[in-house]
Amino acid sequence: MSTKKQTYPDGVRVGRSSAGLGLFATRAFKKGERIIEYFGRTISKEEEYTSRSKYLFEVNSRKTIDGTTRENIARYINHSCKPNCEPEIERGRVFIDAIKSIKKGEEFTYDYGEEYVDEHIKPYGCRCVKCKK
Ligand SMILES: C[S@@+](CC[C@H](N)C(=O)[O-])C[C@H]1O[C@@H](n2cnc3c(N)ncnc32)[C@H](O)[C@@H]1O
Ligand SMILES: [Zn+2]
Repeated sequence: MSTKKQTYPDGVRVGRSSAGLGLFATRAFKKGERIIEYFGRTISKEEEYTSRSKYLFEVNSRKTIDGTTRENIARYINHSCKPNCEPEIERGRVFIDAIKSIKKGEEFTYDYGEEYVDEHIKPYGCRCVKCKK
């Protein structure tokens, strides 16, 4: 499957965060509100095992997407151990939804999951708000 364009979604902006670039709210979001879709190229299992991309998202046991494309604005969302969002999988697509009410200016975060965190975050130290305290 090819990548597809996403018009810049309402209510978000890319900015500097404690972990490089991050995605921030330009308006308040309600708990349960959909923020953005995380999309990219569907890759083969073989590519998944050999890829060094930081933007892989395992949708399910059969499908992994590589969200490296710049058009995938959701790729800027950082990991947090105390997140305000959660990925929601619907018919093979990944959406990032608010799990708390989010104030204007707040950074969107979700928990990347144990496997990713152990491989890409822990070795360098987690820079989320909870861990930096
Ligand atoms: C999907 S990207 C997120 C956007 C990234 N910050 C950027 O500037 O493009 C994931 C990468 O961001 C960094 N990152 C995300 N969350 C982090 C965290 N809580 N602590 C440290 N690094 C983090 C790691 O390098 C990770 O591999
Ligand atoms: Zn953390």
